[in-house]
Amino acid sequence: MTLPSNISNRLRLPVIGAPLFIVSNPDLVIAQCTAGIVGSFPALNARPAPVLEEWLIRITETLAAYDAAHPDLPSAPFAVNQIVHRTNDRLQHDLEMCVKYRVPIVITSLGARQDVNDAVHSYGGIVLHDIINIPFARKALEKGADGLIAVAAGAGGHAGTLSPFALIAEIRAFFDGPLALSGAIATGGGILAAQAAGADVAYIGSAFIATTEANAADAYKQSIASSTASDIVYTNLFTGVHGNYLRSSIVAAGMDPEALPQSDPTHMNFGSATSKAWRDIWGAGQGVGSVGDVVPAASRIAQWRDEYEAARKRVLG
Ligand SMILES: Cc1cc2nc3c(=O)[nH]c(=O)nc-3n(C[C@H](O)[C@H](O)[C@H](O)COP(=O)(O)O)c2cc1C
Repeated sequence: MTLPSNISNRLRLPVIGAPLFIVSNPDLVIAQCTAGIVGSFPALNARPAPVLEEWLIRITETLAAYDAAHPDLPSAPFAVNQIVHRTNDRLQHDLEMCVKYRVPIVITSLGARQDVNDAVHSYGGIVLHDIINIPFARKALEKGADGLIAVAAGAGGHAGTLSPFALIAEIRAFFDGPLALSGAIATGGGILAAQAAGADVAYIGSAFIATTEANAADAYKQSIASSTASDIVYTNLFTGVHGNYLRSSIVAAGMDPEALPQSDPTHMNFGSATSKAWRDIWGAGQGVGSVGDVVPAASRIAQWRDEYEAARKRVLG
């Protein structure tokens, strides 16, 4: 494990609960962290901007109280996701909040910036940057990210097209620091496979949409629970960047998933207009076939822990 020991020592399963636009909230983050995995949320989910400080106070105080009551089994650290894109006009404010509350892990997406990394390093935090290919990985490290999140084919939301095996092997050829792998991981065996392939931790998003804590409509949660990989559509129409979405939500919005027009990155916008697209068009990765029900996050994580141990026994004998 190449994650810093103050983080890896607190993980009871090598997993980061990935940030989910609109869906991640303090309840989900607290449930993830107290179940022994890193919980995270996009800073932009706390709206309007002053709500971010309320969320950070709630999360840090609740986890501190949990740790005081469970000194032998403390919570895992949490992470905040920052969209580093010129259309995110909250970045400076949200970063200042992360510094003020000494957020242990900052996950940066869509832009690598030295000043953002320096701000997180100023209080001892670490930055993980998500990438879909090798040029982006190299650039993130050049700008001072501490670790990478490899977003492979099949991931929910914005996703790449590379096989996880190809991506991880190429990254490990030049980088031996903290590395997370995402893309359709939704079982304990998948978590072990991510480690076997060379990652330190699995990075899992879609499976947490079908939890009781998630901020998602019931129909969205049920759709995750009843869909399979063939129900996932890869398109750049909704945000200008390619991502994976549930076919049923595209049909419900009156569009033909087989004949979607093309878009391009000039249409990316992380101001207030984005939320409508994500509320109506439901992001999800190809791992949904392994998610069969809507349960509390802690139950999902406990099931993965059992599966992970069974997979280890199966593989190692
Ligand atoms: C509904 C949804 C919203 C997402 N929102 C964000 C986001 O705001 N920021 C981000 O960095 N990644 C976002 N992602 C990507 C996830 O953080 C993660 O990379 C992905 O879910 C991992 O693949 P999986 O869903 O197959 O587990 C989102 C994914 C989904 C499904």
